[in-house]
Amino acid sequence: MAVRKTIQVVPRARRTLTSLRNLGYDLRHAVADVVDNSVSADATAVHITVYFDGTRSWIRISDNGRGMDAETLTEAFRYGSDREYGRTELGRFGFGLKSASTSQCRRVTVVSRADAPGAVLEARQLDLDHIEEVDNWEIFGLSSDELPEPSRSVLGEAAGTVVLWEGLDRVLRYQDPFGGWAKKQLMAHAEDIDEHLGMVFHRFLAGEVANRDPLQITVNGTPVEAWDPFCRTESNASALHEEDIEVPSREGSGIVHLSPFVLPNQNQFSSQAAWKRASGPKGWNRQQGFYIYRADRLIQSGGWCRLRAVDEHAKLARISLEFFPELDSSFGVNVAKASVSLPEELRKEIAPLVKTWGRVADSAYRQKQRPSSPPPRRPKPSGVVAAPPARSVHPPHSKPGRDRSSNSGPATFSPTLANYRGVGTSSRVSAAGSMSARQALEAAADHAGENEALSRILSALRTMSPEVAHDLGW
Ligand SMILES: Nc1ncnc2c1ncn2[C@@H]1O[C@H](COP(=O)(O)OP(=O)(O)OP(=O)(O)O)[C@@H](O)[C@H]1O
Ligand SMILES: [Mg+2]
Repeated sequence: MAVRKTIQVVPRARRTLTSLRNLGYDLRHAVADVVDNSVSADATAVHITVYFDGTRSWIRISDNGRGMDAETLTEAFRYGSDREYGRTELGRFGFGLKSASTSQCRRVTVVSRADAPGAVLEARQLDLDHIEEVDNWEIFGLSSDELPEPSRSVLGEAAGTVVLWEGLDRVLRYQDPFGGWAKKQLMAHAEDIDEHLGMVFHRFLAGEVANRDPLQITVNGTPVEAWDPFCRTESNASALHEEDIEVPSREGSGIVHLSPFVLPNQNQFSSQAAWKRASGPKGWNRQQGFYIYRADRLIQSGGWCRLRAVDEHAKLARISLEFFPELDSSFGVNVAKASVSLPEELRKEIAPLVKTWGRVADSAYRQKQRPSSPPPRRPKPSGVVAAPPARSVHPPHSKPGRDRSSNSGPATFSPTLANYRGVGTSSRVSAAGSMSARQALEAAADHAGENEALSRILSALRTMSPEVAHDLGW
């Protein structure tokens, strides 16, 4: 076969870089992408500073991870930087540091010291003004006395990395960049960052990730608190039956792990403050649905991925859906790692489950209106009648690699058929007069070898329609 002639077409730096600023990051996602790198570098502490000084305002993200030597640091600035990734690593594209940084600022400086004996401080800077001027893929190598002031002395003698964003043209777009309004807005951004990181890294912050020390993140000196979407410390939260579903991928296949939760309704929360906090950044209605984790880091919070509509009655349903990077291509993970789409095979499998979760959530929601039985004869002078606690359909099986034992955890209730025998003596006699509905169902389940299934159905029935279960004798 004839050798084909090739012609090299190198991208134009100026225009390409300008386009790459628009990959769809907002400030919160951009900061989270830089924190991903700190997590991948095994950092146990990440400190974020948002500093207001008009057009000289800056944002700094520093970590105590393993840092970078000169060569790694230079490579880190290459779009499409190359390296091997471990199975649980958050990086994938070799883009995040550059694309997240330039989506928010015009000048990014990275100062790093590798975790190696005798390692020295290394620093590089990407300046969009310079690239626009020379139209070439160039960065600056900085000596220690050329470091921008906010990036100096942050690491001391320790290993770690400092990422400094200056020229925040995408963050501060105000007519009067030194004015009070601009300052207020920048500080509001700092609060958003705090809230967002508390959500997307909640498993890392709470020390729930296997083989990792807990992560500490601070924003302007204040520790970021983990926000658990499933409120597992609320005793009335219900953990429903977990599922593992195998999903094909380009490289083979991978497992998607589903853990559904139904949260207590407002009356059954431990306090109104806890209820308010549980509503999350987008509020109760928009926080219902799937919480999609990639390698323990939250990518999508809430929404039903077009499997059902957002609905007031389903707002207590929150479902953890986890996958690992071997399924990246199936989920269509994008550079900003801010959204994914569910693979078709998975959608088919979980569509019926979504209906079940919706029904259980609806039942929990309606308990708000329904007084506990028996209803009080006359209204009490004060206080709310507590509805019976929601119960889980099935106990969650423990997931390898994650120890949730430290959580007091939601109520899990797994009645076996035996629990029900001898209960419900008031069961109605069937038309034939010989067997109650309960006995008939038990006999049929026994005959079909489906005792376990019946036990799960009954448990769900007691949660969703307790009066029907009672009528049937359970
Ligand atoms: N805080 C850090 N500590 C140590 N190394 C880092 C740090 N930040 C970046 N790096 C190095 O720079 C490389 C490039 O980072 P970048 O975020 O651009 O891409 P990535 O993390 O490999 O992939 P992705 O585009 O998915 O984020 C990383 O792979 C890592 O080797
Ligand atoms: Mg990265």
